[in-house]
Amino acid sequence: MAEVKDPTALLVMAVRDLYDGESALAGRLASIRGNASDPDLAAFIAADAERSTRQREQLATIVRSLGEAPGGQANIWLRAILDDADNDAATIAAGPLRDIATTGALRKAKQSERVSYETAIALAELLGLDEASATLIAICDEEQAADEALADILQRLCADQSRS
Ligand SMILES: [Fe+2]
Repeated sequence: MAEVKDPTALLVMAVRDLYDGESALAGRLASIRGNASDPDLAAFIAADAERSTRQREQLATIVRSLGEAPGGQANIWLRAILDDADNDAATIAAGPLRDIATTGALRKAKQSERVSYETAIALAELLGLDEASATLIAICDEEQAADEALADILQRLCADQSRS
């Protein structure tokens, strides 16, 4: 049964999806961090867990401003990426190779977040919701910066590997 029939309802769906993604990151990054050996990667993951917790609350505020409650929708794309990261930890020995794989998985998460935020931003702009779109743009910029930080970590991990 189709329940989404206008842009506002679609924005609620998009932001709920993002909310679940940030919730998944906030809840699961601690164990992913525990599987990391590289101090810079571990520090990045700790910072991203805090960032995700804050972003989740910002998203909840947006959903409530639209007259709805957050939650109730699973972000299956992001949760599958996190499952993949857990699988990497189970199948790759601790150390630089696992860290490279984990960095790759987290970059997938950042990219999935970035493009999903872009959809929400477009809908918020369509609806003239200036405050919501400004918040979503700021978070999207954070995801982009986080991906760039991970790209730097990836390059350094691989450079370390080539010297070992
Ligand atoms: Fe995020």
